[in-house]
This record gives sequence, structure tokens and C-alpha cells, in this order.
Amino acid sequence: MTHTVCLLPGDGIGPEVTTAAKRVIEASGVSIEWVNLPIGATALEFCGSVLPNRTLAAVAGHGVALKGPVTTPIGRGHESVNVRLRRELNLFAAVRPVRTVPGIPARFGNVELVIIRENTEGLYSGIENEIVPGVIQSLKIATTRACSRIARFAFDYCVSRGRRKVTVFHKANIMKKSDGLFLECCRQAHREYADRVAYNEMIIDNGCMQLVRDPSQFDVLLLENFYGDIVSDLAAGLVGGLGVVPGANIGETCAVFEAVHGSAPDIARKGLANPLACIMSGVMMLNHLGETDAATRIRNAYDAVLTAGRPEQLTRDIGGSGTTHSFTEAIIRAMQ
Ligand code: NAI
Repeated sequence: MTHTVCLLPGDGIGPEVTTAAKRVIEASGVSIEWVNLPIGATALEFCGSVLPNRTLAAVAGHGVALKGPVTTPIGRGHESVNVRLRRELNLFAAVRPVRTVPGIPARFGNVELVIIRENTEGLYSGIENEIVPGVIQSLKIATTRACSRIARFAFDYCVSRGRRKVTVFHKANIMKKSDGLFLECCRQAHREYADRVAYNEMIIDNGCMQLVRDPSQFDVLLLENFYGDIVSDLAAGLVGGLGVVPGANIGETCAVFEAVHGSAPDIARKGLANPLACIMSGVMMLNHLGETDAATRIRNAYDAVLTAGRPEQLTRDIGGSGTTHSFTEAIIRAMQ
């Protein structure tokens, strides 16, 4: 069967890592028709919009996309493309597996957790006003509908993957109403799953400390949007950095797969980007499409390359001396 997948290269290192992932996916033997679509600063230059309507319509129509990161200007300029994309396509759940990867030097050797982040509201609603000069308010939105939906998603995820525990990070001691609602919805959803999935809560500052002290105590972490964004990068640091953590944005009818990392302008167009997180996101995509054999082939191939640990094949962020190209080639060769 041939699948149609939208390919959104994005900005910075996006084109480099998505090209690498596309090549590896094609080498796995799976049949994919790719629809190339502009997004981000590149799209602004050529189409006059960071998120052209035809990109949105194509992803909505085909239902699956592999996306590179996009650059978002800091403190000025257009709204975040990612926030808009996730809102427009109702990609309400971000799923980010954070695992110890063989052969990659990391702080811990036993990390096997999944971050589930609410993707549509919280402080990321981007609703900010200047009340009077020098006074800004930024709104944090929490709705019963979105909080309950992400909570049920997390428990369903546990049940379908044989996971045993959900831990919610929150700050309901201070944000009593918004995080309070999030907790209330999580507790209520848990009642339906109490016989199958354990549940606990941690104030996020303690949670972060626990995470860097002993990540093995966590299984599935459930967080609202803003906390999920920050804790994802923190967790990436536990297993070797942003180059090795994939992600998926899941909605009712659509799924967009992308690495956790950003557009890394400091290393763009130098051939230094680690393509692994994007390739791993591609593996998540293949599993989503039911192409589990191809997904396993790719996973075995990069595991073999990482375990062999030849510096000339690996990128610098994970201790190698190679390039995006040498890493990609090594993974493709390991599949042959
Ligand atoms: P970043 O993730 O782009 O980079 C942080 C550090 O990690 C940099 O030193 C970078 O070189 C390194 N890094 C990231 N990915 C790497 C990879 N694959 N291989 C090797 N090294 C890698 O985060 P930063 O600098 O905070 O953001 C840059 C831009 O990316 C911003 O405009 C931000 O808004 C955007 N961004 C976009 C995301 C997306 O589209 N999903 C996610 C996060 C940030």
C-alpha cells in the first residue's frame, strides 16, 4: 500500500533533517508518496505567509505529516507557526518518548518515559494585552473540555501501550483555578482507569528536581502546554540532548510528527545537525500508519549504528566527528 504523507521541511536545520528522515524511510522499503509543503520563514518568503492555507489544507486532507522545526521570532513578529498549526488542526496531544539510546553518552542509563503535553491552550494561547503602558497581562486558558480530553488520552495511551503510571506535574498551589481545573479533570478521568493505571501528582518544581535526580521513578508524565514544552527539553537533556528525542502531535483526524528540537540556527546549513530525532519521529509515524515492520527495521538500524559507536558516522552533539550525511548513510547501510 502507498501512503500519502505531507513533508514540511521548515527552517534552519529543518530541510537537512527532514531530507535525512525521508531518505531513511524510503530505504526501509515502505511506499510513500510525499507532498512537499512550505511552512515557516521559508514559506513567508515565497508564499507571503508562514502557514499558507494550502499547507494547512493538505495536512488536514491527507491526515499525516512529517515536519521540520520552524523559527519563531522572539518578542516580536508573527504568532508561533507551531501554536497555530496545532490549534487549526486540533492536534491536542503532544507525545514525546524520552528513552536512553544505546551508545549515546548520557546522565542516566535507565530512562524510559513518555511526556504527554496538552497542545492547544494554557499560557500558549498567546493572548497578551498591554493594560496600561508598562503593564502586560498574559492569559492562561484552561477548559474542562481540553483538560479532560488530554487526561483521557494519557490514560488510554497507558492502557494501549502497557504503561503503568501517569504522573501529573502542576502548580495548582499557586494557579489554583487553571491548574486546579487541570488536576480535577485528571483525577476524574483516572476514576475510569483506576484498576489499570496508577496515578500521582507532583508540584512541578519538585517534579523537575525528581526528574533530574531519578528519572526511573516516572513512566508517563502528563502536563499542560507550557510545562510540557519546558520539561520536554529538560528530559531530552537526561538522555543525550535534543538530537535524540522524537515527537508526535496527535488530533482526532490528523497527526504531525516532528522532533522536539528547534531550527538550531547556530548549526543550520553546516551539515552538523543530528537527524536522529527526526528519523525517530518518522519511526513513530510509520507505527501510526501501521508500517510496524519498516519502523522496526529503521529502529534496529540506528540502534546498530549507535552501538557500533564509530565517531566518523555520528554527529558532534552525540560525541562523533561526522555529519548529518555520514550518520544518515550509516543508518541506510545498516538496513541493507
Ligand atoms: P533549538 O532546539 O533550535 O537549539 C538548542 C540547542 O540545541 C542549539 O545549540 C542547537 O544547535 C542544538 N540542537 C538542536 N537540535 C539539534 C540537532 N538536531 N542536532 C544537533 N544539535 C541540535 O532551540 P532554540 O535555539 O531555543 O530555538 C531556535 C528556534 O527554533 C527558535 O526560533 C524557536 O522558536 C524554534 N523552535 C521551533 C520548534 C519547532 O518548530 N518544533 C521547537 C523548538 C524551538
